[in-house]
Amino acid sequence: MLLLSVRKTTGLATRLLLRPAVIHRTAALSTSCIRHNDSGKIEVLGSTYTTDKWTNATSAILSKTGRDLLHQPSHPLAILKEMIFAEFPTFAHYDSLSPVVNTYQNFDSLGFAKDHPGRAASDTYYINADTLLRTHTSAHQLELLAAGKQSNAEILAQAKNAQAAPANERFLVAADVYRRDEIDASHYPVFHQMEGVCTFSRAEIREHLRREAAASATAATTEALNLDLSAAQLLDTTQIGDTNPVQPEHTAEEVAFVAAHMKRTMNSMVVHILSKASAAAAAITDSTQVSSGAATQFPVRWIDAFFPFTSPSWEMEVLFRGDWLEICGCGVMKQAILDDAGMPDRIGWAFGFGLERLAMLLFGVPDIRLFWSTDPRFVGQFSPGQINAFRAFSRHPPCPKDVSFWLPADTEFHENDLMDLVRETAGDLVEGVKLIDLFTHPKTSKTSRCYRINYCSMDRNVKHEEINAIQDKVRDRIVSQLGVTLR
Ligand code: PHE
Repeated sequence: MLLLSVRKTTGLATRLLLRPAVIHRTAALSTSCIRHNDSGKIEVLGSTYTTDKWTNATSAILSKTGRDLLHQPSHPLAILKEMIFAEFPTFAHYDSLSPVVNTYQNFDSLGFAKDHPGRAASDTYYINADTLLRTHTSAHQLELLAAGKQSNAEILAQAKNAQAAPANERFLVAADVYRRDEIDASHYPVFHQMEGVCTFSRAEIREHLRREAAASATAATTEALNLDLSAAQLLDTTQIGDTNPVQPEHTAEEVAFVAAHMKRTMNSMVVHILSKASAAAAAITDSTQVSSGAATQFPVRWIDAFFPFTSPSWEMEVLFRGDWLEICGCGVMKQAILDDAGMPDRIGWAFGFGLERLAMLLFGVPDIRLFWSTDPRFVGQFSPGQINAFRAFSRHPPCPKDVSFWLPADTEFHENDLMDLVRETAGDLVEGVKLIDLFTHPKTSKTSRCYRINYCSMDRNVKHEEINAIQDKVRDRIVSQLGVTLR
C-alpha cells in the first residue's frame, strides 16, 4: 500500500500507480472470488446494498469500516493526522467522508482507463458492480473541488475548520482506504491516507511569474518555510520532461511554479514532522539513518512516478531500516479534473500520503497490525499531540504452517483470494503469508504452490491446538472456495 511498505512490485503505490509496464488486464472477476453473503444484501455503516457477482468485500474487511481509528485522539494515526492538519491551517480539513464510494468517484473521475488493472476485483473490494470501498483518498478530489466551486453547503459543512479556504482552493482529506493485498508486517488490507489538493488561478500564477518571484512567492504561501532542515536529507534529481511530461494544457513555466510549490510544501511538512519526532526517532535509530549530533536525520528522496490523474508525477520515499519506503504519491493534477469541476482557469497539485508508514517511522511501531489492536498495552502508550517511541509489550514466537495445493485446471487462481480467505479465517493472528514453492509437473503440466502461513499473536499466548484448528479450517476453505486440490 502506499507508503506503507517497502518498495516492491506489490506495494500500494506500485499498484495504484499503474506503471505502464504492469498494465495488463487481470480477469476482472475471478470465479473464485469470495462471496460475502448469499442473501443478496450487504450492510455497510448502516446502509444496505444489493450484492452481485462483483461482490467480494469479506466480513473481516467490512468489520473494519466502523473502527474509526482517526477519531480516537490517543491513537498514533489520529495524532499524526492532527499534526498534518496543523501544518496546513489554511486548507479545509475533512476526516469523516464515507469509505463507500462509486466506481465513478474512485476511478472514472480520475481518468482511469476502463481496463485499468486497479479496477480488477482481485485488487479492490467491491460491494457490488458500481459500489466499492475506496482504494484511495483521491476518490474525493473531483467532488470536493466541485463542491467548493458550487458552494455546495452540505458537502462543505463537513470540513472541520469552517474558517479555512473553500475546497475549490485547498483541502486535505484523511480517511481509511481499502485494498486487497498480501499479508506481512507492512501490508494490511485497510490503511489510512491523507490527500492534499492545492489549486491556483492561472492569473495568480502569471502574476507570480511576471514578477519573476516564484521562489519568494512560494515562500509566502507555504507555511513553516523557515524550518530547520536538519531532520531530513533531501535528495531530488528528477526532471520534468519526455518521460514525466507537462500536460498540453499547461506551459512549462506554469508547471515549474506549481511543482516547485508542491515539493516545497511537502518537504516542509515532512521535515517538520520528522524534526518534531526527533526524540522518538533517536530511540529507534539504526545504522541507515545519518546521525547528526543528538538528532536523527532521515534521508528523503523524490523519484519519478506515474498516476492516471497527475502529470508530471512523483513519489516521495524515506530511508528506513535499509529500505526506501514510499510514503507519498503526488503530482500536477490532470487538467480534465479541474475542467470537470468547472474550473478550467485553475491549475493544481495533489498528494496522497500513507499514514501508517509515516506513523510506523515516527512511533517505531514494528507491525502494521498493531494499529488495529485494542489491547490497552498498545493504545495506552500514546497521548494526543505527542510522539513517543512504542515499547514492545510482548513477543510471542511465530508458528509457521505450510499448505501445498494443485491449482485448478479450469479457473484462474488469484493470490489475493487466498490472502482474504486466510484473513477471514485467522483474523489478526496471521502475521504473514508467503509463497515458498512453485512447481509444475513435467508430465501433467499441473502447477502446485506451497504457502507458508505464519501465525503469531501480537498480544497473547496462543495454544497449538488453536492454531491447528484454524489451519484445518483454512485448508478446508481453500478447497471449497478456491477449487484447489490439497497435496
Ligand atoms: N492516490 C495515489 C495512491 O494512492 C496517490 C496520489 C495522490 C498520487 C494524489 C498523485 C496525487 O497511490
